[in-house]
Amino acid sequence: MIKATDICKNYGEGNVLDNLCLQVKSGQFCIITGPSGTGKSTLLNVLSGLDSFQSGCLKLMDTETLTLSHSKTAEFRRKNIGFIFQSYNLISSKTALENVALPLKYNRVKYFHRRSMAITALDKMGLGDKLHSYPHQLSGGQQQRVAVARALVTRPKILFCDEPTGNLDSESAGLVMDGIISLRNSGSAIVMITHDKSLVNMADCAYILKDGKLWEDK
Ligand SMILES: Nc1ncnc2c1ncn2[C@@H]1O[C@H](COP(=O)(O)OP(=O)(O)OP(=O)(O)O)[C@@H](O)[C@H]1O
Ligand SMILES: [Mg+2]
Repeated sequence: MIKATDICKNYGEGNVLDNLCLQVKSGQFCIITGPSGTGKSTLLNVLSGLDSFQSGCLKLMDTETLTLSHSKTAEFRRKNIGFIFQSYNLISSKTALENVALPLKYNRVKYFHRRSMAITALDKMGLGDKLHSYPHQLSGGQQQRVAVARALVTRPKILFCDEPTGNLDSESAGLVMDGIISLRNSGSAIVMITHDKSLVNMADCAYILKDGKLWEDK
């Protein structure tokens, strides 16, 4: 599902990612840890096609996404990729329900269907009573769970998550992990960044990002 080979990425000076390789298969859940500032978010941005890189090869579902046109890349991402951002990236002028229903709208799911799918996804995150709240009316942890619901609602074949439990108590973190594991069990490939070492035993593979490369952690 994900095959990254010899990826190099820098922001002008030294490489943040230095000949990095990673392979994640269908139904595999991969965790990446590492100290702050080592390039974990950079890695997810590169793997998901949100950010460019200087050299190397990246294939997602056997497609070299770099070779696609701008509009084909957008379509590929919309159909196949989910992303939970470290900073949530919710749309502030839309309610929780509208935020979660939006990717379904882009995928042309009909209004009533996408509304009920979004309600179910928010319910699973323990937010059934916050459907009509705007992001600024929600706590950080609630916003994070809206972002998780938004990423899971399309059942993406590949899911990238950047510290999806970072702001959560253990009960809410459990809801998030249940959603992620259920997606993995239906055959999706998951790459998750976390600082929470206790989650490593739920994963099929675990790596530490250090010196621009991934080192096995298990
Ligand atoms: N847009 C950018 N322009 C220039 N440098 C950047 C940019 N984004 C990140 N960096 C630098 O790249 C390095 C890696 O940053 P990144 O955000 O990937 O780290 P991280 O491992 O996700 O950290 P954290 O655990 O704190 O989230 C840092 O030194 C950062 O300053
Ligand atoms: Mg980060």
